[in-house]
Amino acid sequence: MNQAPNPVLVIDFGAQYAQLIARRVRELGFYSELVPHYISADALLAKKPLAIILSGGPASVYESNAPSLASEILSKQIPVFGICYGFQLLAKLLGGEVAQTGLREYGATKISVESNSSLFRNLPSSYQVWMSHGDSVVRAPAKFIVTASTDGTKVAAFEDVAKRIAGVQFHPEVVHCEYGMDVLRNFLINISGLKLNWSTDQVLSDAISKVQRQAGNGRAIVGLSGGVDSAVAAAIVQRAIGDRLTAVFVDHGLLRTGEREQVERDFVAATGVKLVVEDAKERFLSALKDITDPEQKRKIIGAQFIRVFESVAAKLQQQSTEPIEFLVQGTLYPDVVESGGGASAATIKSHHNVGGLPEDMRFKLLEPLNTLFKDEVRSVGKLLGLPTEIVNRHPFPGPGLAIRIVGSVNDERLEILRAADLIAREELTNAGLNDQVWQFPVVLLADVCSVGVQGDGRTYGHPIVLRPVSSEDAMTADWSRLPYSLLAKISSRITNEVTGVNRVVLDITSKPPGTIEWE
Ligand code: XMP
Repeated sequence: MNQAPNPVLVIDFGAQYAQLIARRVRELGFYSELVPHYISADALLAKKPLAIILSGGPASVYESNAPSLASEILSKQIPVFGICYGFQLLAKLLGGEVAQTGLREYGATKISVESNSSLFRNLPSSYQVWMSHGDSVVRAPAKFIVTASTDGTKVAAFEDVAKRIAGVQFHPEVVHCEYGMDVLRNFLINISGLKLNWSTDQVLSDAISKVQRQAGNGRAIVGLSGGVDSAVAAAIVQRAIGDRLTAVFVDHGLLRTGEREQVERDFVAATGVKLVVEDAKERFLSALKDITDPEQKRKIIGAQFIRVFESVAAKLQQQSTEPIEFLVQGTLYPDVVESGGGASAATIKSHHNVGGLPEDMRFKLLEPLNTLFKDEVRSVGKLLGLPTEIVNRHPFPGPGLAIRIVGSVNDERLEILRAADLIAREELTNAGLNDQVWQFPVVLLADVCSVGVQGDGRTYGHPIVLRPVSSEDAMTADWSRLPYSLLAKISSRITNEVTGVNRVVLDITSKPPGTIEWE
């Protein structure tokens, strides 16, 4: 982990929104980390938190084995804020009462707030919040003042400003909650008395000095995928150690139109990084010949990728007496959380740029983004002067177009998909909707054919699937409601311009139950 400022710790009680709370706190200008509820009190206190936020969660505080909080944490004069389950837990631990009132509240709910409350300072006396609870706090702990209520919940918020403890039944972190960010800010500033400690400038300078400390005089190598994470990681390390970094771009032949050129031209122009482009198309395509199983495709690509990467590193090593000691990875904070930080691991799926690292890997890792969320990475990228086309680029999977061809992969199919994909991307950009969409996979159903009529003749061609999605972090997603006029334009251009395609369909599945990619 980078040397980050003292955190506002979010304790994850299994909430759907725990990561979101940490992100919101950072958006407000305070460094925040997520820890699971089963972290020991010692480990938690060792992080020297400036404040603690207890997340929501699916349990009921009176269930046996309900997750709890070590009582010593509440005696350390650290400001504490409870949300939903966290609010009920505070009530129980501090001597209040929680009950199943039979009155559940889900979704938008009108709340009335006390004007003299520190938590609701300068907010309207009544507004809409977002609720999702069965149990309710029926009595606040002694000396706490109740500062909000709804029709169904008498105690919807409480606070004890002297103790710097407060809580709310609703979810201020979700976008549908009016004034949610104000409530969080009021807790962090009015009640906790914290000073801002997290800005993009600071993130960047901390990351650069951390890499300089870690790398010393060593040399490093970075695999560029063309995506924003590896680009920003590379640019940070390049700022830190200059030309002791070599970037490697493996062209596996599964890229979209223009990707290799973008890295060769725009990224190098913006950073001046030393770049080695390795043409490995033949080797990837022959290894993938006749393979249709998605998992097998992924494994083959992962293995080939590492082989190419190792051979490039070996060649580079021959050119210098200094060994290449470090490998730069664009690992993000959510990836770190997935591998042990969060409590709700079951809902999280991890992906790695290169399909996994070899077990006997002898590189030491440099991971300058491992405290950051994707939107923060984009801000750092902008500050580093990377081109907008790279910074705002939609995520693209390491295995590339191979997992967007349902069926085996060959040159002809790749060409069809590339042409269709380029049209979809061009039209999305022309419509000015690039930033409204998280990702826009275009998929070729290579083993499916349907009958069409084009010109005066019968055709028997492949369908192309459009899969535009909106998402916050790719863990869950919804299909994007793109305007019909745009969809019509894309469909008409693809069927007219791409030989072999006579049908375009729209994927209207959310994730879950679907995934974003088809394979
Ligand atoms: P799914 O398809 O699981 O994808 O909903 C979630 C996000 O991950 C991307 N993805 C990958 N990224 N290597 C990557 O670097 C992979 O093997 C991989 N598989 C999926 C996908 O594009 C989406 O953003």
